[in-house]
Amino acid sequence: MLITVTSHKGGVGKTTSAVHLAACLAQELGEGSVALVDTDPNGSALEWAARGEGGLPFPVVGADEEVDAEHVVFDSQGRLHGEDLAAAAEMSDYLVVPTTPDFLALNAVGRFLEDLDEAGECRYRVLLTMVPWYERLYCPGRAELEGAGVPTFAAWIQNRKVFQHAADAGVTVKEVNRKGAEAGWWDYTRVSRELLADLGLGPRRLRRESGRRAP
Ligand SMILES: Nc1ncnc2c1ncn2[C@@H]1O[C@H](COP(=O)(O)OP(=O)(O)O)[C@@H](O)[C@H]1O
Ligand SMILES: [Mg+2]
Repeated sequence: MLITVTSHKGGVGKTTSAVHLAACLAQELGEGSVALVDTDPNGSALEWAARGEGGLPFPVVGADEEVDAEHVVFDSQGRLHGEDLAAAAEMSDYLVVPTTPDFLALNAVGRFLEDLDEAGECRYRVLLTMVPWYERLYCPGRAELEGAGVPTFAAWIQNRKVFQHAADAGVTVKEVNRKGAEAGWWDYTRVSRELLADLGLGPRRLRRESGRRAP
């Protein structure tokens, strides 16, 4: 399964989402079955992995390296368009399109989805990221996207400082011992389960972490 995280804009949480979705998928589908490919010339995901020396539960490789994994998450640069976008759409089983909930970013998403329409067909959902903390029950932007018929993840990612701490330490928020870490991990877990359900891979709900045994 090939999943590409891409958008029209930089700084909307693509790399953070690619890293955390890869980690959630490794948890749901089995460690060793997932790899992340960094196709962004900035190499942010590669840098993230290098800071933590084995702190991520999956390998991160560059675009020209070989990958040996059943499931691959691609982290892309912003402003993918034209042939590059067409190639990404054709190659991927699924696109995750992160956006922040502000007006300018949502407009950019609109343009991106128009480009995507022309580029080819690929299943996708928009993921709202860095949603302000005071919007716990209501996610701004979601209603607008849904109203426009844009497939949007039901779960969204709250704005949490802990994501920056995780990047600094080269790990996911799951390994960070700070406020918001568990909630941040849970946000991405929910997104990964929606994604798996979309792809017919179903949620594996038995979570050993909860400490409860299956009856
Ligand atoms: N949910 C979040 N809460 C707070 N900060 C975030 C969140 N997601 C990403 N960030 C921060 O926002 C910045 C841009 O995120 P990044 O994932 O690098 O975006 P992109 O890959 O789209 O450029 C980084 O400093 C990152 O740590
Ligand atoms: Mg990035």
